[in-house]
Amino acid sequence: MSEPDRFDASENVGVNTSAEPSIGELIGRRLSRRDALLGLAATGAATALSGAPARAAGPSTLTFRELKLGMDDTHHVPEGYEAQILIRWGDPVVPGAPPFEIDKLTGAAQEKQFGYNCDFIGLHPLPRESKAGDRFLMVVHHEYTNTNLMFAGIGEGRASRLRSNKAQCEVEIAAHGGSIIEIAREGGAWKVIENSRYARRITATTPMRISGPAAGHDKLKTSSDPIGATVLGMLNQCAGGETPWGTWLATEENFNFYFGNARDSSPNKELNQRYGVRAASAYNWMTFFDRFDASKEPNEANRFGWIVEIDPYDRNSIPVKRTSMGRFKHEGATHVVAKDGRVVFYSGDDERFEYVYKFVTSKAWNPRDRAANRDLLDEGSLFVARFDDDGKVAWLPLVQGQGPLTSANGFDSQADVVINARKAADLMKATPMDRPEDIETNPVNGKVYVMLTNNSQRPANRVDRANPRANNIHGHIVEITPKDGDHASTDGTWGIFLAAGKPGIDSGTRYHRAISENGWLSCPDNCAFDSKGRILISTDGAPTAAGIADGVWIADTEGYGRALTRLFYQAPTGAEVCGPVLTADDRTLFLAIQHPGEDPGSVFEKPSTRWPDFKDGMPPRPSVIAITKKDGGPIGS
Ligand code: FEO
Ligand code: CA
Ligand code: CA
Ligand code: CA
Repeated sequence: MSEPDRFDASENVGVNTSAEPSIGELIGRRLSRRDALLGLAATGAATALSGAPARAAGPSTLTFRELKLGMDDTHHVPEGYEAQILIRWGDPVVPGAPPFEIDKLTGAAQEKQFGYNCDFIGLHPLPRESKAGDRFLMVVHHEYTNTNLMFAGIGEGRASRLRSNKAQCEVEIAAHGGSIIEIAREGGAWKVIENSRYARRITATTPMRISGPAAGHDKLKTSSDPIGATVLGMLNQCAGGETPWGTWLATEENFNFYFGNARDSSPNKELNQRYGVRAASAYNWMTFFDRFDASKEPNEANRFGWIVEIDPYDRNSIPVKRTSMGRFKHEGATHVVAKDGRVVFYSGDDERFEYVYKFVTSKAWNPRDRAANRDLLDEGSLFVARFDDDGKVAWLPLVQGQGPLTSANGFDSQADVVINARKAADLMKATPMDRPEDIETNPVNGKVYVMLTNNSQRPANRVDRANPRANNIHGHIVEITPKDGDHASTDGTWGIFLAAGKPGIDSGTRYHRAISENGWLSCPDNCAFDSKGRILISTDGAPTAAGIADGVWIADTEGYGRALTRLFYQAPTGAEVCGPVLTADDRTLFLAIQHPGEDPGSVFEKPSTRWPDFKDGMPPRPSVIAITKKDGGPIGS
């Protein structure tokens, strides 16, 4: 979700009242002598990077011709590349889906069509049925809806969401969740396979099972589910992930926006405050559906904010909310297999001053027996990160009974810990970060990259070395090196890969010193890596923060070209870029173009863009695109 479109961008709805000072008092010694020697001290200009002492700028390994920064009503790829629209909001997904008719939207139709605001994209191969690399199941998240761009006569901006009538709410509810489509490459082009036996829509009403420590807990019981074990739907799917055994991890991010009428008299007052469930809802759903009204169904909100495991190969499978992985505003669920075969998942909590987490399964996964991994995610340890000013990172266990996580602090069981993971992390004195978005691991150098999108509310007395800028409107990227290359280790080191903003204009920017006038970026949100370990960074919020379109920038992560970002893709106005993912041969880059036309004053009748159709009467449509090189070569090279 982009910052301007948040429920109320001026408020920190997450309410982290933790007194943990972000090591703010230590600022004086933060820019240490070592930093100065490495050229890391914040100056007005681009400086050399952590771990890359000042040296003559060498060539980037990337050879594409960089785009020029700009912003207009369509998207742009470099010379020699082409972008194909793979699937748009409203296109058919499941067999029998009706054609998309913009003036006749219904919940029933939308449940069979591609949802709104595509975000994470996952590729699950179908190796048995064709040449590997040519055919996939693609899973796509649908994060939220832009009411003002979906329906005529409903006005502009966030306020339009509170004007939806019941039928429009039903469309919105069905436009959330995720899609599973089968795609294939034929010739040079990708297409969606019609009537695939895998095709599926998952929405905010799809029945799901709750498993792990919080299943059956009193705080998860509702009038329709007195057992606390089943829930309807998932909400606000943002960056996600997958498991080594081929399931999809759908994350729930800003779930709090869908609930309202939270009251101070509620037994959930502490939880609601910490997670931002408030009197006001961002949507009108609670007017028509009681479960979104916290005064009527106070525990319903506790059943959201989880990671949902879904088997994309079985359209009849029941999605499972894996509560062992903690409840927060999940962004990303990236896995790495540790040295001993246990599986590690990294996930950010995307809110100002929230934390970076990882989950480590108790047992190793079984590569030979897929079914043996079915409930692997129900047992494991949740950790939260503390970034120390000496460059070390410590992963602190969130385990009931350990340290302050005791009954005296309200943690009677591990269920209490995972339901209020934020409070547990506060008590463990984790480091409050500048909005952790996607987290990905580099398959070549084994390091972990944390997108910290921005934090306009960090005051000067709360900066620390991992979040070194006050009023950090452009964000930065932290790079973690696990100890001994073991992702299950509780120790590691960290550095800053880059600090975004315009070099020479914005203070504290950090890139390769040879960055071009088009190579700087703002508000990193998602990332991906190619098979050479080069990073693709997509952004969300650059128009507001920097007056440039959101897009994709690519850089080396090692060698002479480290952090020499270059502009590869420019989104249409109003859109953020999500879900970057490359095929294993690096020859196709899929992107989710989310909320095109989400600009001030943009309305259904007069949107700021009609991308990608550019037809009168048709509003902009969030879409997944496929970018290829015309000569068939790898992206970027
Ligand atoms: Fe949905 Fe954190 O962006
Ligand atoms: Ca974002
Ligand atoms: Ca995001
Ligand atoms: Ca990602």
